[in-house]
Parts: sequence; C-alpha cells; structure tokens
Amino acid sequence: MSSKGKPRVLLMHPILDPGPSILAEAAEVVPFPANLPLDEANIARAAEGCTGIVSQVMDPIRETVLATPGLKCVSNVAVGFDNIDVPAATAHKVMVTNTPGVLDDATADFAFTLLVATARRVVEADNFIRSGQFRGWAIDMMLGVDVFGATLGIIGIGRIGRGVAHRAKGFNMRVIYYDPNPLPPEAQESLGATPVDLKRLLAESDFVSVHVPLTPQTQHLLSKPQFESMKRTAILINTSRGPVVDEAALVEALAAKKIAGAGLDVYEREPAVHPGLISMPNVVLTPHIASATTRTRSEMSAMAARNMATALRGGRPPNLLNPEVKR
Ligand code: GLV
Repeated sequence: MSSKGKPRVLLMHPILDPGPSILAEAAEVVPFPANLPLDEANIARAAEGCTGIVSQVMDPIRETVLATPGLKCVSNVAVGFDNIDVPAATAHKVMVTNTPGVLDDATADFAFTLLVATARRVVEADNFIRSGQFRGWAIDMMLGVDVFGATLGIIGIGRIGRGVAHRAKGFNMRVIYYDPNPLPPEAQESLGATPVDLKRLLAESDFVSVHVPLTPQTQHLLSKPQFESMKRTAILINTSRGPVVDEAALVEALAAKKIAGAGLDVYEREPAVHPGLISMPNVVLTPHIASATTRTRSEMSAMAARNMATALRGGRPPNLLNPEVKR
C-alpha cells in the first residue's frame, strides 16, 4: 500500500490509452526504471512493496519475482503468457491474467500479410526499387509463388488459427490443420478446414502457418526432421512464439533449399535474430508486431488494466489464468 492509500502496481512498460487511467483509478503506478536490464533480479527488486505487476512478453516473471511478499496479481499485456511461471504464481497465490480475444483479427491479418509478402517477394521488391535497380518491366523479374488456390497448413486451430483459415477462404485455398484438439465437425465444415496429422500437413502444404502457444510440448515442434518433410517449395509463417521453431534448423533448411522461404514475426531469442536469417532475401522478418494496430494494442492495454484493477479491488479478474488462486 502506498502513502496515498492505493496499492502499488509496477508497470513494466508504458501501455496505451485508456489503460493508464483505468490503472490510476485503482493503483499508485510505479514505472520500471528505464534502461534497467529486464532480468528477474531487477524485476524482483522493482516489485518490492507492489501488489501488482503489469508485464509484457519480454519480462521474465518467475519464482524470484513471484515470491515478492504481498504480490497478488500479474497482468500480462498479451495473450501468450510463456514469460510467466504460472504454476509458481499459483503456489504463491498470485493471480495471473492475459488479454485473449482482442488481438485475434489483427494477428490473423498479419499472418496472412507475411504469407503473401513472402510468397510475392514484397520486401525484396521494395528494396529493389529503393536501391535504384528497377530499369523496367521484365518477364522473369521477381517471380514468386501463387497464393490463390494453394494448400495452407495451419498448426494450432485456436482463435487465431481459425482466423487465418477464414481469411484463406477468400484466396480459395485448400486448408488443412493439425491440432491435438480438433474442431467439432460443424466448425470444421463451416471453416472449410480438414484435420490431418502433422506429418501429412507438412508433406502437403504450400504454406505452413504456426498458431500454437509456447509450452514444453510445442518447443521446437518444427525442427530438422519437420523441415525435411516439407515441400521444397514450401513457405513457413510464424506469428506465434519463436521457440516453437528451431531457428538454427530453420536456417539450415533454408540454406540447403529444403524449404523455399519464411515469414517470421517472432524469434527464438528475441530481440536477437539468427544472423543466418538476416542475409536471406527469401525471408521476411518483422519485429513481433502481429497484434500491433492502434485499436488492438489499446484494447489489450485496457483489458490488462481492467484485469489488474479488478484483482486489486478483491474481485475475480475476467481473464484469470489460474482460478485456483481465487477459490
Ligand atoms: C503477443 O505476442 C501476445 O502474446 O499477445
């Protein structure tokens, strides 16, 4: 509790309106010191005396932080929460919340953006113009691959995966998906998506798009054997989490032309990007911005602030990931 009588909340990074005003009504907001490395020890030190932490995907919120005396809630401004040790939070009776739903469309839009941009060499073409190389139309200039009518393999058919399948309909794509929890038949039918095992998905897809959370089961789900099972013409799209893809194996597969290209928004050791990827023209790289539209990031900010405010007032936050803490 602060001298102003409000509980203290550590705000790891600025959030967008209306998040700050929602938070300020319920808490005294303490910003994480600028330029301090985002490691557990620094976060734990900054969190001393705080009842809540508003975190983002790059913040490691693990045992050392979660053991902070008096800490009640960690509100992540993201749908993914692999940066937080949820079992440790539960053991310390700390609530953990995330921001599901509001970013589905922006993320699915962006997965599709990366897919088309990689297939049609948009970034390479833009660089070509800017570097003064365009001397006129040529029949064989910047040949790409067709998206319309191609086969799309979706790994993970949650809200975002379904959003991508929905968009693929407009491109007349054949959509297959792999998910250990398949959709009910009616949902499959209305989406026009056929469940297959991972092996078949990899063998048949022209584009493989990944939409799974990072868990011990999904870490390196795509590695050397999986790249070897893909078509040599295939393109990989990843807007989920970097460690789902073995980045070194991906670089090897691209270099050996085992697959044709990749569109990546996430990396195994963010913000570091494997140097092998940087020099490859058949790879489109973006800095973890799949949900980055003004509206979506504002909604995520508001949702995270509301989750925190509810927890501070003794309520059950709408997006509570560990309800056992509130029982
Ligand atoms: C962003 O990566 C998120 O999980 O929301």
